[in-house]
Amino acid sequence: MITTENGRAVRDSVVPLASSQDERPVPTWHRATVLASRPHADRYHFLRLDAPSIARSCQAGQFVMLTAARDGERGPVLPRPMAIYSRDRQSGTVDIIFGVVGDGTRTLMSFRPGEKMLVVGPLGQGFRIHPGTRRILLAGRGIGSCSLTTVVQDCADTPVEVVAVASGRHANAVIGGEFYRAAGARRVYEVTDAAGTSTVDHLRQRLTTDLDDAAPQQIMTCGSERLARLCEELGSRWDADVQVSLEAHMACGLGYCHGCATGTRSGPEESPLICKDGPVFRFDVRNVAR
Ligand SMILES: Cc1cc2nc3c(=O)[nH]c(=O)nc-3n(C[C@H](O)[C@H](O)[C@H](O)COP(=O)(O)OP(=O)(O)OC[C@H]3O[C@@H](n4cnc5c(N)ncnc54)[C@H](O)[C@@H]3O)c2cc1C
Ligand code: FES
Repeated sequence: MITTENGRAVRDSVVPLASSQDERPVPTWHRATVLASRPHADRYHFLRLDAPSIARSCQAGQFVMLTAARDGERGPVLPRPMAIYSRDRQSGTVDIIFGVVGDGTRTLMSFRPGEKMLVVGPLGQGFRIHPGTRRILLAGRGIGSCSLTTVVQDCADTPVEVVAVASGRHANAVIGGEFYRAAGARRVYEVTDAAGTSTVDHLRQRLTTDLDDAAPQQIMTCGSERLARLCEELGSRWDADVQVSLEAHMACGLGYCHGCATGTRSGPEESPLICKDGPVFRFDVRNVAR
């Protein structure tokens, strides 16, 4: 769980984005052909799936549910949520990068090109780029950058400039740096624990020095409590909207099981669901010290 410095969970400081379910693409079910399956960087795995309707309709920050069990085989039957790292609307492909942490991801890693994988998506509330935004700061840590990369795809060929931070334990654990550059990000900071460049103090110094004069109107973050905390602070400094993608264990990904409830209640309403009301939320400005 992402928590803030004072111990309050980030999920207690965020509220759902104001948006209508009608603006989201309708999720569909696919038996997608695996087109590529290979190790990626440090200890990650890359999958390319042939899923044209998801590739064409998905919004930045949305996710898919991947079923690891194969037909007739024992295996994890509950699907696993994965961010859409990249999509190619023309070829109809969707790319996923994941860390191998348990049975589900170990089985997903074993899929070979040509096999079929059950995929449902696109799901959830993605990032929202507001009209009038001219500059966006993306700040991701490790595998969390996978939720942010499609934002830069959406900003290509638009007036919106993207500045990206890709943070990791060491150079080979940083995800998204090359992708951001190729997709047209104006500036990319690849920062690592190994080099001592990923600390909050270091990043605060670099980002405020470089961006105070042309501050982003929006900040989007995923993958680290430290980064989320820094983004909240920078959002306050720059009066920027801050959106954060949260994670939870998910059984259905569709809003039925309520297993992913944030637990945050501000009134008589149900707790927001991370799969349906999120995974992207925005920091509640009432909780930001100004
Ligand atoms: C919206 C969303 C998008 C995601 N996108 C990505 C992605 O792009 N790439 C990626 O590598 N992972 C992503 N994840 C996390 C991914 O779904 C889990 O790592 C995966 O489900 C683990 O399955 P498993 O069976 O291998 O591990 P499990 O056996 O289920 O768990 C192994 C270990 O990982 C922990 N874990 C499992 N799921 C989560 C979770 N959601 N949050 C925190 N800890 C967890 C468990 O507590 C346990 O310690 C995303 C999760 C969400 C909710
Ligand atoms: S995972 Fe079932 S409601 Fe969110």
